Amino acid sequence: MRQGRFEKGLDEAMSRLNASIGYDQRMYIEDIEGSIAWAKALEKAGILNSQENQEIQKVLKEIEEEIRSGEFQFSIELEDIHMNIEARLIERLGPTGAKLHTGRSRNDQVATDLRLYLRKACDATIDGIETLIEAVVKTAERSLGVMVPAYTHLQRAQPVLFSHHLLAYAEMLLRDRRRFERAREEADVCPLGSGACAGNQFGMDREFLRDELGFSDLTHNSMDGVSDRDFVVDYLHASCLLATHLSRFSEDIILWCSSEFGLVKLQDTVTTGSSMLPQKRNPDAAELARGKCGRLVGHLMGLLTTLKGLPLTYNKDLQEDKEPVFDAIDTLELILPVFKVMVETMEVVPDRAAELLQGGFLDATALADYLTRKGVPFREAHDLVGLAVRKCEELQTDLANLPLEEYQKISGEFAEDLFPAIALEATVKDKDVIGGTSPKRVEEEIKRINGLIAASKK
Ligand code: ARG
Repeated sequence: MRQGRFEKGLDEAMSRLNASIGYDQRMYIEDIEGSIAWAKALEKAGILNSQENQEIQKVLKEIEEEIRSGEFQFSIELEDIHMNIEARLIERLGPTGAKLHTGRSRNDQVATDLRLYLRKACDATIDGIETLIEAVVKTAERSLGVMVPAYTHLQRAQPVLFSHHLLAYAEMLLRDRRRFERAREEADVCPLGSGACAGNQFGMDREFLRDELGFSDLTHNSMDGVSDRDFVVDYLHASCLLATHLSRFSEDIILWCSSEFGLVKLQDTVTTGSSMLPQKRNPDAAELARGKCGRLVGHLMGLLTTLKGLPLTYNKDLQEDKEPVFDAIDTLELILPVFKVMVETMEVVPDRAAELLQGGFLDATALADYLTRKGVPFREAHDLVGLAVRKCEELQTDLANLPLEEYQKISGEFAEDLFPAIALEATVKDKDVIGGTSPKRVEEEIKRINGLIAASKK
């Protein structure tokens, strides 16, 4: 490429800065796929004859094999995957190979390759998310019946099913799945035929290229086609929010595993020891998942910052799109399977759950509801229960054990039937609305989520 215009070769330091081959070689399959479609379209446009097209396709497939088997020699001087492959094609085919780049730009190629690559990456991430959702639901299913405190402000608030708490994360993951489906749709648009920036001058059939590469749509402005990286931002945004959910889930798990909570036991397969403290069993899987979130947020911010000042159209800054998104893909590929094992094998400790339910006046709201059902306005009931809680604190007891005569000193509305009404099981069972924590509703949600995942696997 430098033989015409330039007298001198690149400075060695410049060459290192300039090259993206170190990481964009990951897209060799997509690059060859794009080139094969291009060769076919060149024949249709009368630039290649049938034999040339066949030869180019054959050698491109051989080059793909050379790269797959590791015998291909990548060169930093050839900058990127596009030129490395093209140079090898020319080395093998001479002038015929040199015809492939007719009417095409690397700007075209890199946008096309990355879209093809991210489309697959979305599929893989979606698979990973679905597998994790299945693990969450399985654990929710086998933990049914265990009640735990739900927290607001990290203060014990109301009793819920442990399964209900787990399924909150299944909801987040279902949204993540949708987000990656949308990111896939955004990537699924063919820019090929945009040229360097102005379009193609050889009458290349862009609809043919779209169909050859299995894209659902094509871009409608060549300048946008070569400079748009919104689809990369979409992937990074989806990954960043997924990582945020996993980080919150991790935080819950880490708290649950502490001696203070002791609510959950993780398996040895996902915990590590300490080099100094023999008693330690650390929830490293969760801590690492929480820790990885930072870099994913960083990748999103980094790319947005790269994009924000770019004039149209392609600028070399855009080469900075690939490392963050590849790292995001790799990071998710690393965390999701471990998270799946951790969740699938974790055990809630029912005795500890029962202990945590004691104290904290988790039945206070149910007692106010009891009065409300008797016709006491809720605000008044709220105050009366407040008085009862104060009395309990004074007598160092709880609402279930406060003698009825103490209750009746506070209000004549309190009667013997208050005790069954504030039993924790009863208050959980009471939350019988869509999305509530009653066992019946939670089981319905388990069925619903299982159905959603099964449907997407068809
Ligand atoms: N290596 C480049 C990238 O990753 C490919 C496109 C180069 N285009 C150019 N006009 N220099 O973005």
